[in-house]
Amino acid sequence: MDKLLITGGNQLNGEVTISGAKNAALPIITATLLADTPFYLSNVPRLQDITTMMKLLEGMGVTFEVDDNFNIQANSSNVNSFNAPYDLVKTMRASILVLGPLLARFGEAHVSLPGGCAIGLRPVNLHIQGLEAMGAEINVEAGYISAKAKRLKATNLCMDIVTVTGTENLMMAATLAEGVTVLENAAREPEVVDLARFLNRMGARIEGAGTTTIRIEGVEKLYGARHQVIPDRIETGTYLIAAAMTGGRVKVKNTDPNLLDAVLLKLLEAGTTITRGDDWIEIDMQGRRLRAVDIHTAPYPAFPTDMQAQLTAMNSIAEGVGMLSETIFENRFMHVSELQRMGANIRLEGNTAIIKGVKALQGAPVMATDLRASAGLVLAALVAEGNTLIDRIYHLDRGYEKMDEKLSQLGAEIRRVS
Ligand code: EPU
Repeated sequence: MDKLLITGGNQLNGEVTISGAKNAALPIITATLLADTPFYLSNVPRLQDITTMMKLLEGMGVTFEVDDNFNIQANSSNVNSFNAPYDLVKTMRASILVLGPLLARFGEAHVSLPGGCAIGLRPVNLHIQGLEAMGAEINVEAGYISAKAKRLKATNLCMDIVTVTGTENLMMAATLAEGVTVLENAAREPEVVDLARFLNRMGARIEGAGTTTIRIEGVEKLYGARHQVIPDRIETGTYLIAAAMTGGRVKVKNTDPNLLDAVLLKLLEAGTTITRGDDWIEIDMQGRRLRAVDIHTAPYPAFPTDMQAQLTAMNSIAEGVGMLSETIFENRFMHVSELQRMGANIRLEGNTAIIKGVKALQGAPVMATDLRASAGLVLAALVAEGNTLIDRIYHLDRGYEKMDEKLSQLGAEIRRVS
């Protein structure tokens, strides 16, 4: 199993290119189940989760052609299975995103219920309730969601909790339903908006994506389309923080600065200098020490939970005390005990981490527990004294394309070891 060996202390400087957004590409790939003519997708990140999603769809009869730049041609004209088996779903919860498209186009789906996850229970009750409200007959038996419907019917739904993949699943299901579906309290994440843009290119009639009310007028048929996935805002934020923590100056390219206002505001508050263009952001720390900031995670456009671990690492070496409240997932503090092993001064009280910045962290062997927790550990390792060996980095490979290479190009001393 690969590990990362990082020797801390190098300032990061230079340019880094951002990949396509994992959490936009995943639902977009599942949306190719909705039509029987070819699709062309570009700016898809080369990640383990993307490969897993393609494997899941291949098992259903979808064919993929991938070129050297990871542009993907998908064809769903020969789908002959509506099954998402446990072995794949257990490795990637986003597999649940096949439920809406399968049910909408084929009237049938058997999808393994995703189990719990390192960061929280993460139930999918709202996905199921929404599809039931659209007329699907759903049974949960032997760990599987078995769903059937002749043709889904439009409905008005107000979701109890803002859910990203829940909104995406129901939006995809509604594209082929009879009538006009209205989703209230919908997630406003840029990845939801990108999916809606893609679906509209396929012939769907979706309005309001990016607001709390999405209106979907069902159509009889959808068609293949071309689409370029949006840049990854979480990867962008992670490199900005890496640069800031090491006191360096880094230009992050191929990104969309408009997608991470809340993160940029916090970085400004922490004392960084930020300049931005249409598709780049430059951060300059001029060797200064960061100031600790308070964070409260919440659905978009507020501060993203997917940046919480990275901010915990940042506050660990900043000047002052930062309070960090996690309101989305009940167990997303697994990185805290590892950071403490590196000398961080963090106290956990319920869903809040109180972080008193220390002058220096020390390298240590640590264990990655989930994707963003791993990113937090990498950031801490970049500034720690001595060597940090990060175990279980398969979590990192699920969501960060070539992170070791990108950091190395910026001047980090980082090596993948077996
Ligand atoms: N929830 C329910 N019932 C549901 C659905 C969600 O109670 O039916 C709860 C969850 O347990 C959680 C909250 O609602 O407490 C929000 O969860 P959400 O459904 O929005 O999360 P998700 O759709 O499963 C996506 C991202 C996550 C990201 C969250 C929050 C994808 C594939 N995953 O998950 O990304 O943290 O939204 O923004 O889009 C990551 O990339 O590392 C990652 C975990």
